[in-house]
Amino acid sequence: MRKTILLLFAFLLLLVYCKSMAQTLPLIPLPTHLTMSEGNFTITENTVIVKPKGYFASETQQLNNLLAKGLGKKLREESTFSGMAIQLIHDASITNVEGYTLEINASKITIAASEPAGIFHAVETIRQLLPPAIERGAKFKKFVLPALKINDAPAFAWRGMHLDVSRHFFSIDYLKTFLDRMALYKMNKLHLHLTDDEGWRIEIKKYPKLTEQGAWRVFDKNDSACMKRAKDNPDFAIDKEHIIQRDGKTLYGGFYTQTEMKALVAYAAAKHIDIIPEIDMPGHMMAAITAYPFLTCNGENKRGELFTKPICPCNETTFEFAENIFSEIMDIFPSKFIHIGGDEVDRSDWAKSAACKALMEREGIKDLPALQSYFINRMERFFNSKGRKLIGWDEIIEGGISNTAIVMYWRTWVPEAPIKAAKNGNQVIMTPGEPLYFDNPADQYSIYKIYHFNTIPKAISGEQTKQFIGAQANIWAENIPSEKRADYMAMPRMTALAEMLWTNQADEYESYTKRLLLQYKRLDALHVNYRLPDLPGMINENVFTDADTLAIKKPLDDMRIFYTTDGSIPTTKANELKKYLIINTTQSLKLAAFMPNGLRGDIYQLNFKKKSYIEAVQNTSTKPGLLCSYYKDFFKKVGFMNGKTADSTFTAENIIVPSTVKAPSFGLQYRGYIDIPADGIYSFYLTCDDGGILRIANEETVNNDGLHSAAEKNGQVALRKGLQSFALDFIEGGGGFTLKLKYSVNGSTPTEVPSSWFKN
Ligand code: ACM
Repeated sequence: MRKTILLLFAFLLLLVYCKSMAQTLPLIPLPTHLTMSEGNFTITENTVIVKPKGYFASETQQLNNLLAKGLGKKLREESTFSGMAIQLIHDASITNVEGYTLEINASKITIAASEPAGIFHAVETIRQLLPPAIERGAKFKKFVLPALKINDAPAFAWRGMHLDVSRHFFSIDYLKTFLDRMALYKMNKLHLHLTDDEGWRIEIKKYPKLTEQGAWRVFDKNDSACMKRAKDNPDFAIDKEHIIQRDGKTLYGGFYTQTEMKALVAYAAAKHIDIIPEIDMPGHMMAAITAYPFLTCNGENKRGELFTKPICPCNETTFEFAENIFSEIMDIFPSKFIHIGGDEVDRSDWAKSAACKALMEREGIKDLPALQSYFINRMERFFNSKGRKLIGWDEIIEGGISNTAIVMYWRTWVPEAPIKAAKNGNQVIMTPGEPLYFDNPADQYSIYKIYHFNTIPKAISGEQTKQFIGAQANIWAENIPSEKRADYMAMPRMTALAEMLWTNQADEYESYTKRLLLQYKRLDALHVNYRLPDLPGMINENVFTDADTLAIKKPLDDMRIFYTTDGSIPTTKANELKKYLIINTTQSLKLAAFMPNGLRGDIYQLNFKKKSYIEAVQNTSTKPGLLCSYYKDFFKKVGFMNGKTADSTFTAENIIVPSTVKAPSFGLQYRGYIDIPADGIYSFYLTCDDGGILRIANEETVNNDGLHSAAEKNGQVALRKGLQSFALDFIEGGGGFTLKLKYSVNGSTPTEVPSSWFKN
């Protein structure tokens, strides 16, 4: 008996060991099942690739090209061979069309799949096991791969990236690079937002003015904002190749010819990536309307209160135009899925149109959302007649929609939308702004949030879970004027998304963060302008009583940290922060991490203030909670609440926005005391969307003001034990809010401030 227990124990230990070994392999996404064994297989120029007759020609070629890139020579391909070989097997019993098995032992590598996509993913797994330097063409005599067994398949069929090529334009070469990186991490859908108010990017032969005029614009306000930011960060410089001179004017733009796009579609298909075109209508059509003014109900082309004016769903000429465009689009893109947009439509002109009034009466259309549904449903019937499926942004469900359309959820502030779509029977793709809009700047929490994102909302269970076919990150390009900036926004966030979608579980987050560190060498070799890992424990507003020590644990060994004290942007010529820096006077530092290849991380501004401890306030008659004033109004800055009359006041137990706060735009002022448990230098971390300012002991501790997406700022204050005055102002401009307050003391992990600390 004891022997059995011992054996069992040894077996369990071995399992744990194998699992932890497996987790240290540089693989993202982590395979569903992976076991390591003893030994390894060596690939040399004498290794043979065994390919089953009639199967996997393209994938075999891609495997051979990959190995030849390192070995300098293609391997021999055979259909049978008994020596040292990499053998590809067609195995019809593998049911997932993207699934594969990979076995490496001392005598052979065996890859099996039922479909080419599975073999392709296995090749990308092998690629990640090869030395990163292969990516820049380094040469090797051999590759030694560890013995292992992988049985792998994705959890979700839709593992997407989106790129807006309208607001700023990206070259075909860049799109190829983008596809290569998606393939490396087993992503399989590229959604191209091809048209918008700011530019029409795909040649349509029947309507040449769409690109002759619609692909070009004079610099707009986004361009100007980028040019301003380029002064401090060259990634914001507009890519010059998209700027032309025409008729004495400087124009920005570009478009893809149908021939170019067809070639790109084929390039993606070889990597088992589907390109999904989006022609956004009926809104976001200004570029088209300028060229073809007949498209609107009244011939006007302008911006409404929030969005631009849409095309008119009440004229047959609109449908003729839309169908002609989508017919050409379907010739270019063989994808089963075609995206029609359908977001952010200003329908006010439809209400004024005689044609719309007549149509609504004739068809029994009760309101404007239903009129939009009439347009979408009619277009869907057209798509279906061509064997395609329609995708639309989640607004398409507002006026009722057929259950065969696919809903792409994006409006974080309408959490019920995907549930409603699923209940209606629609398939859903999740792309909520938080955390999946990669045009929002990343911070130290982004990767965690993406990795822990629930593609299937918690309210969904049973059979309905199957309607959630996957998720996607969207990259809107208003503020992304260059390929470098696009890289920076996409990477490494895409790796977290890729693993989340492949595995659909968050248990391996710790191992993922370690495996991510192993990816940077490969990304360097691929010349990816990725966002460097965050420097840990950075505080924006530091306070000290005697002296402060700034020591930073570098996330990557070859990273170096440089800082300036004169307000200038740090370069590698600035002061280097080696082990630590002692600070004993009030001063400001600007600091950034650099990689050997020159990549620069985010710039941190760190302010240090010499202060004395602030004495506590005496008040013996306090009650629990904070007094809170609620203003139902729109504020751009928290200061605009001052002097206004609150719509209501209440006691808040903690820093949360109560469910009674319903206004889309509002302001809150929390007032009272915070009961400090012991003398110390306290750090406070204020995350808000939109703005907030925290004052403790009448000192501005954190300033996170203004209208912005969720972002954390932090600051310190030196406090004596006891009651200290507390004031937090928060504003939400519309579109969903976030408000969180955490604290730490003496380097502790930031945690939420307990309710028991708040008094009034
Ligand atoms: C969107 O972000 N307007 C879909």
